[in-house]
Amino acid sequence: MEMDSPSQSRPPHVVIFPLPLQGHINSMIKLAELLALAGFKLTFLNSHHNHERLIKFTNIVAYFKRYPGFELKTITDGLPLDHPRSGNWFLETYEEAIIMKIKQSFREMLMNSNPLVDCVIADGFSGFAIDVANELGIPIIGFRTSSPRSFWVYYSITDIIKAGELPIRGSEDMDRLITTVPGMETYLRCRDLPSFCRKSDIEDSTVQLIVKQTRKSTEADALIFNTTDELDGPILSQIRTKCANIYPIGPLHAQLNTKLKAKHGESFDQFSNALREEDKSCIPWLDKQPYRSVIYVSFGSITSTSRDQLVELWYGLLNSKTKFLFVVRPDSVIGKDGEGEDVVKELMEKSKDRGYIVDWAPQEVVLNHQAVGGFLTHSGWNSTLESIVAGVPMVCWPYFADQQVTSRVVSRVWKIGLDMKDVCDRKIVENMVNDVMVDRKEYVNSATDMAKVINQCVSIGGSSSNNLDRLIEDIRMKRLKTTKRL
Ligand code: UDX
Repeated sequence: MEMDSPSQSRPPHVVIFPLPLQGHINSMIKLAELLALAGFKLTFLNSHHNHERLIKFTNIVAYFKRYPGFELKTITDGLPLDHPRSGNWFLETYEEAIIMKIKQSFREMLMNSNPLVDCVIADGFSGFAIDVANELGIPIIGFRTSSPRSFWVYYSITDIIKAGELPIRGSEDMDRLITTVPGMETYLRCRDLPSFCRKSDIEDSTVQLIVKQTRKSTEADALIFNTTDELDGPILSQIRTKCANIYPIGPLHAQLNTKLKAKHGESFDQFSNALREEDKSCIPWLDKQPYRSVIYVSFGSITSTSRDQLVELWYGLLNSKTKFLFVVRPDSVIGKDGEGEDVVKELMEKSKDRGYIVDWAPQEVVLNHQAVGGFLTHSGWNSTLESIVAGVPMVCWPYFADQQVTSRVVSRVWKIGLDMKDVCDRKIVENMVNDVMVDRKEYVNSATDMAKVINQCVSIGGSSSNNLDRLIEDIRMKRLKTTKRL
């Protein structure tokens, strides 16, 4: 009998290792808390930089003290601490020398861990983690934080190229259907492919990196997706042909809220995972607004806009018949030094009666506020799930990568919003906002219906709740493949 077996003598020890980006940390820290609630020992591994930010803007250390054995550890992201980490900084971390550095630290962390690590759950974009875990004989699960459909499109890029459907040439018809992504033949158009597919050079290093990381992630022992069978069943079946063991356990924020509510009652305490300071003053402002009268506008943690785009969006909102709560991150307006801030100040001043502008909002609270009736979003996967759970219809203005796919699915497959892809024109913004907020067209009812179905999935007996139980049991009983132990 093994002395250190988690099922015999101690709880399983799981290391969760997200990419150092807000959208990735959000869902992975929720999974960490869900596993801690199940009695596991958890190590949450963050970059030094993001750990410092979480300490500055949240109560992370005090909050996780409630779970015995919950440990916050840090690791290098490979860049110097004084690196600005702005723009496309993140791609730098995939340079060979940097990957080697992170890989080495990760290996050391796992080898020196006490108790032994029973399972690693690493971001699906960290292929090197699979190599390290395999080398040490530790089971590894990949966590893909974006939608399964975008994963599936990334996975299929090689086939799309082989079929001659990429690259996009000159004056191409962007509405032509892409026929080589199994399960998506009837709705995926050229313009819905991930933004990087628009590059004329398909050998481009970013495209190659994404394809490589995506294919690599199917080498993990299993994959976790932040979704439900009810949202993405047909595509999950396709993905199972490449990685047999899949856990659709989302939406994770709803799953966690349900479990916390069951344990602590309605007024449970919740961890805010913001890497920035939240401006909570928008809540008293929302409190004063009528039921479903405000559209919430936010483009996530990475998106940037030009000054002209921001002004078009703003005029569209102002000319619509609705009030708005607009998140404009100070670093999100591209322009000369200070120009971004000036334009935001000017817009704020001019729209005092109609809108409220903040740097960063408590988004989950906002989307669940009775005054919010719509969401103008960049279609980031966390934002999309948060909107679905709150039953809030969307106007989608996708920015990059997975968002082009998601906005198409929201509008065409689920029919819970509109897709404003590739346009930024004040008249169109105004019309779409009015469609959702004033005319309350059919997507409003569909969003309400979908919220009911998806909230059921995370309740006891629901598909995602069952899948989470299966994940917990598989880790506890060491059912995930292992080749050798440390
Ligand atoms: C990106 C991708 O777009 C996303 O699809 C991928 O899965 C992760 O990386 P991001 O662009 O930041 O993430 O968008 P999103 O996935 O929507 O995540 C943003 C998160 O920040 C959401 O959880 C949202 O609630 C939160 N947020 C955003 C706030 O709390 N306040 C804000 O003001 C804005």
